[in-house]
Amino acid sequence: MAAETVLEAQGLTKRFGGVAAVNGMSLSVGKGEILGLIGPNGAGKTTMFDLLAGSVGVSAGTIRLMGRDITGEPAHKRLAGGMARTFQIPRPFPELTLLENMLIARQAQTGERLWANFTAPRRIAAEEAAAKEKALGLLDLVALRRLADEPARVLSGGQRKLLELARVMMADPKVILLDEPAAGVNPALLEVLIARIQEINASGVTFVLIEHNIDMVSRLCSRIVVMAQGALLFQGRPDEVAREPRVIEAYLGGSGA
Ligand SMILES: Nc1ncnc2c1ncn2[C@@H]1O[C@H](COP(=O)(O)OP(=O)(O)OP(=O)(O)O)[C@@H](O)[C@H]1O
Ligand SMILES: [Mg+2]
Repeated sequence: MAAETVLEAQGLTKRFGGVAAVNGMSLSVGKGEILGLIGPNGAGKTTMFDLLAGSVGVSAGTIRLMGRDITGEPAHKRLAGGMARTFQIPRPFPELTLLENMLIARQAQTGERLWANFTAPRRIAAEEAAAKEKALGLLDLVALRRLADEPARVLSGGQRKLLELARVMMADPKVILLDEPAAGVNPALLEVLIARIQEINASGVTFVLIEHNIDMVSRLCSRIVVMAQGALLFQGRPDEVAREPRVIEAYLGGSGA
């Protein structure tokens, strides 16, 4: 690969009891790339994100982020190190407003703030005003600003996906793992989502995109990795993936589990 590698997984394995959800999976993501990650239901895609983001520990294998071995690091350190992930099923706090949901995401990232409130109240107030501005700007980016003061429970499934993207952007990540961002998103919102991903990518952010919407993957990704039964099945350009017999067979073969 010509571009510098920002994220690299080698031989990743995750066993749950006797079952290997991910089994010796390797992938590498180039700087500025939008890498597609596809595969039938149960192929191990979300588990792969859990491993990369640190939500679960590996059974075997190594993960490098910008050249640094992060395999043993907890999730919050990987986030601080520049990698964020969205969840396949976003769970915003339903009774908090969109803006509050955004600001909570940030608080979790900055960690302990109580002491700073005593020692530097003015700096904290300025930081909080800046965070609010940033949150509103990001809500605007995903066409949700007019709902900033509404509770998150009013959002449709598709809008939750957009809020989820805005939420992870609060951390200024360099790499974003998107888990099925288009699921449940209506066609008009889907175009907003695609445009925003392209825009964020153009500003230098690298993406890995899990998605069943093949049209979206083909539009966004120049390279696609296909997983089946926890392992790498194939990787290539969208047109190569579309005509690869092993890929077609894996999808026709049902759940892959
Ligand atoms: N915490 C867990 N405990 C036991 N088994 C699990 C766990 N998480 C995932 N699995 C199993 O691992 C396999 C891979 O699941 P995973 O969610 O990673 O697939 P996926 O490719 O994301 O599927 P989908 O496209 O449906 O989201 C499945 O068989 C699943 O049941
Ligand atoms: Mg999944």
